[in-house]
Amino acid sequence: MLAGRATAEGTRRFAGRFAGLVQDFRAAAGLTLSPLGIGTYLGEPDTATDEAYAATVRGAVAGGINVIDTAVNYRFQRSERSVGRALGALVEAGHVARDEILIATKGGYITFDGAVPEDPASWFARTLVESGILAGPEEVVDGSHCLAPRFLQAMLQASLANLSIETVDIYYLHNPESQLTAVERPEFLSRMRRAFEMLEEQVTAGRVAVYGTATWNGYRVEPADRFYLCLAELVGLARQIAGPDHHFRALQMPYNLAMTEAYGLRNQEGSAGWGSTLEVARDLGLTVFASAPLLQGRLARNLPAALRAVLGGGGSDARLAAQFARSTPGIDVVLVGMKSAEHLAETLDLLREPPLSAAKLQGLLQPS
Ligand SMILES: NC(=O)c1ccc[n+]([C@@H]2O[C@H](COP(=O)([O-])OP(=O)(O)OC[C@H]3O[C@@H](n4cnc5c(N)ncnc54)[C@H](OP(=O)(O)O)[C@@H]3O)[C@@H](O)[C@H]2O)c1
Repeated sequence: MLAGRATAEGTRRFAGRFAGLVQDFRAAAGLTLSPLGIGTYLGEPDTATDEAYAATVRGAVAGGINVIDTAVNYRFQRSERSVGRALGALVEAGHVARDEILIATKGGYITFDGAVPEDPASWFARTLVESGILAGPEEVVDGSHCLAPRFLQAMLQASLANLSIETVDIYYLHNPESQLTAVERPEFLSRMRRAFEMLEEQVTAGRVAVYGTATWNGYRVEPADRFYLCLAELVGLARQIAGPDHHFRALQMPYNLAMTEAYGLRNQEGSAGWGSTLEVARDLGLTVFASAPLLQGRLARNLPAALRAVLGGGGSDARLAAQFARSTPGIDVVLVGMKSAEHLAETLDLLREPPLSAAKLQGLLQPS
């Protein structure tokens, strides 16, 4: 198990090694972070994909990326294990130190262990119910999602073991808005409160540095929507639990050419009135990580010619799509899912290019 966590000094040291590149390292959360990070969601739960992710994580860190994003349920825990192996090898070889890299993972979904078991129902009963990790079916939404503290604690423990680290830099509640399919808002908020209380305890115990919400719909919808997440309300919960020095400090949401709500939708109330999630997140002291910048690969082909013309410059559709997200003000880090060497090379190449100018972004980014 690697001790330590990402630190101001360590991440600055990492950035210093890439000072010759254009790369616009970002000051966020007291750390120096690469504008592009690596995500590990997609792919088959097989050995070839394990190896592919381990290789791209090693290559990403060697090439100047110091943000790694994963989740306990990605490929049934295999993505976390690939990240753990890659990081361990890099540290052992002296290529990087633990305090130079931000590692984020997530809990909330029930996950198998490496593969679908022969009898999922008896696996579920044995592993989750008889062990006491789940108190009962009322804790589980849609047969797969749970925010009960005891369950989350077990998931966090599994993640730390998979990643072979003592402390995770960001622990996200994974798509917490999923709970709103089954419970009303007051019950949802009381579940969030109990989860935050547990996470503050994990911070005190040294297993988590900060925590956050990694979402799909929650921050991209209007306040009246059933799945809406209110930033001020969530920060309010954290403040009630731990005061102004609470550790609810990060959010993750999709952002790409086809999903621009983080920037354009004024759906969050901040100290200066209604603003976008990006504006209010900054106001409330949260670091923002953008997911799905290529819309899970779909923006990597057939970008409309008019859009290419506005984005300007050369390069593939994927490169332009990632560049768009990376250049949007208010986004701290863009997570690109990558398990192929070719895609990694293209992403590393983008780090050597400056972000798009504000003028180029104009026209694409019209606040609504
Ligand atoms: N709710 C949540 O919490 C949530 C939801 C979605 C994503 N995320 C996080 O955000 C990360 C990024 O999102 P994502 O992986 O879903 O989608 P994405 O980054 O939009 O797209 C990933 C896909 O694009 C391909 N790709 C990458 N670079 C490319 C290039 N230069 N040219 C052509 N294709 C390219 C990848 O292929 P290869 O893999 O074959 O290289 C992969 O199939 C995830 O990995 C995950 O860590 C979180």
